[in-house]
Amino acid sequence: MTVRWQADNESDLLVAAQCLQNGQLVAFPTETVYGLGANALDDHAAKAIYQAKGRPSDNPLIVHIYDQKQLDLLTSVIPPKAQSLMERFWPGPLTLILPKSSAVPLCVSGGLATVAVRMPNHPTALKLLALADLPIAAPSANTSGRPSPTSAEHVWHDLSGKIAGIIDGGETSIGLESTVVDMTAAVPVILRPGAITKEQLESVIGTVAFCSGDDNQPKAPGMKYKHYAPKAEVRIAGQNEYEAAQTITAALADDSVTIGLMISEETLSLLPLLPATVPVQIIGSRQKLNDIARHLFAALRYFDDTTAEVIYTEAFPNEGIGRAVANRLNKAAAQVSNSDNEVKKI
Ligand code: TXA
Ligand code: MG
Repeated sequence: MTVRWQADNESDLLVAAQCLQNGQLVAFPTETVYGLGANALDDHAAKAIYQAKGRPSDNPLIVHIYDQKQLDLLTSVIPPKAQSLMERFWPGPLTLILPKSSAVPLCVSGGLATVAVRMPNHPTALKLLALADLPIAAPSANTSGRPSPTSAEHVWHDLSGKIAGIIDGGETSIGLESTVVDMTAAVPVILRPGAITKEQLESVIGTVAFCSGDDNQPKAPGMKYKHYAPKAEVRIAGQNEYEAAQTITAALADDSVTIGLMISEETLSLLPLLPATVPVQIIGSRQKLNDIARHLFAALRYFDDTTAEVIYTEAFPNEGIGRAVANRLNKAAAQVSNSDNEVKKI
C-alpha cells in the first residue's frame, strides 16, 4: 500500500524519513519535479528505484543532499569550479557530476566512476533530507519514458502500489528537471539543459560547453532513452506561432486523424474557432517561457485521457529556460527505439 503524506505535516515527514532510513521508497516534491527517493548508500534500496520505475540499469540516479558536508560521503574530489557553482546556485536546480567515492554503489552511478549530486531548493525536500540525514538517490518519480511528474497526482498515477508513500507538496514551481553539468572535464559540459542557463553558469566559472547533442553518443546515459512520451504522437507544427497556426489549421480540416493541441496563447489567437471535440492545452504565452516550462509535462499527460492520436505543438524561442523546453519537446517528439522502450507509433 502506498501512503499519501502532507508536506506541511511534521509527523508525516518524520514517518517518511523513517521509511527512507528503513530502505523504502518515498516520492517527494522538489522545485523542479517530484523525485523518487531511496538511501543512496544502500545498494538494495537504490535497486528498488529501478524496479519501481522500470528504469534501464545503466541510467544513473541523482543523489540529493541538504548540506555540503554530506559531499564527503559521496566524493573525494571537489574541483574549484564545482565549489564556485555550489556556492552560487545551491540549493537550486543544478546537478553536478563529480568523481564518485567507493561508498556510492555502482547501481546508483549506473556503473560509472562518477556521481551526480544536487541540493534541491524546496523546503519539504530539504526538511525530509535533514530528517533522514542520508544522501538520497532520486530520479524523477515517473514510470520510465513518461513525462516527469509535476504534482503528487502524477506520481500516484504512475507509482501507487509500488512505493511506500508520496509526500504531497502541490505543484512544482519550475516544472522541468535540473540542469546537469559534468564537472570532471577541463571545460565543464552541460549534459541536460534546465532552469540554470549556460549564461548563468559562465558568469561564475567562465566557458561551459554544451553536450554535442548527438543522441547516438550520449554522455548522460539517460538521454538515449525515449522520454516524456505521452500515448499520442507529438508533432512540432512550426518554429513560431504563424507556422504552427498554418499547419494546425490544415490538420483541423483533415478528418482522418484525431488531433490535440498543446499551444501558446499567441498560436491560439491565430486559429479559427476550434470544434469542442478537439482537446486543447494552452500552456502559456510565448513571452513567458517560465510558464511554458511549468505547464509542459502536465499538459503532455493530459492527452493520455483524451482520444488524441497526434498532439500538435510549436517550437519555442531557444533562449534561457526555452532551451530546456526545446530539449524536452524534441525528445517527446522523437522516435527513439531501444530494447527497453517500445518504438513509438507513427
Ligand atoms: O530536477 C531533477 O534533476 C530531478 C529531481 C527529482 O531532482 N531528477 C531527475 O533525475 O531528473 P533523472 O534520473 O530523471 O535524471 C537524471 C539525469 C539522467 O539523464 C542521467 O543519465 C543523468 O542525470 N546522470 C545521472 N548521473 C550521471 C552521471 N554520473 N554521469 C552522467 N549523467 C548522469
Ligand atoms: Mg527522469
